[in-house]
Amino acid sequence: MANKQHSSSMILTITVVVAIVLMIIIWPLSMLGKGPSATGSGDEVELRILPVARIEMKKAVVVSDGKPRDGATIYNASCAACHASGAAGAPKTGDKAAWAPRIAAGTATLLKNATNGKGAMPPRGGASDLSDEELKAAVNYLVGKAK
Ligand code: HEC
Repeated sequence: MANKQHSSSMILTITVVVAIVLMIIIWPLSMLGKGPSATGSGDEVELRILPVARIEMKKAVVVSDGKPRDGATIYNASCAACHASGAAGAPKTGDKAAWAPRIAAGTATLLKNATNGKGAMPPRGGASDLSDEELKAAVNYLVGKAK
């Protein structure tokens, strides 16, 4: 008799435990299935537009990369601060006497010094976002004014 009682209470305990475990596992799963489609949550919308958003962002990057700024634009934005006034000992734009000895050293030297920096001038005139091509255009523009 004692044995029988013991085993039936075991079965009851196991049944309750299994029922609780099943509830714990199944309840969140059913929420997962319902959540997004029932509410149309922001996450789901974001997921749907994600591929398009990625492509648009790529386009924007290509557009700004695809069009290198020209020498005059770069000069005005990044070089004139020093070279227009001669600030910090910079050779002034259009000052033939100041530029002649530098120009005599050759375009390659001018470009190298503009790239690496020289004296008070930081590398790339401080405009570290300039591509090599853009820096070259700016140097040509600046030097061209003193020829
Ligand atoms: C912070 C001030 C400053 C800015 C900004 C600046 N420069 Fe200069 N630059 C100088 C100074 C100072 C020198 C003279 C360096 C020396 O001879 O000691 C110089 C010299 C040069 C030279 C002559 C290098 C040589 O071989 O003698 C070139 C070319 C030049 N700059 C190009 C540029 C270009 C292009 C830009 C813009 C992208 C620029 N600089 C922006 C200060 C500046």
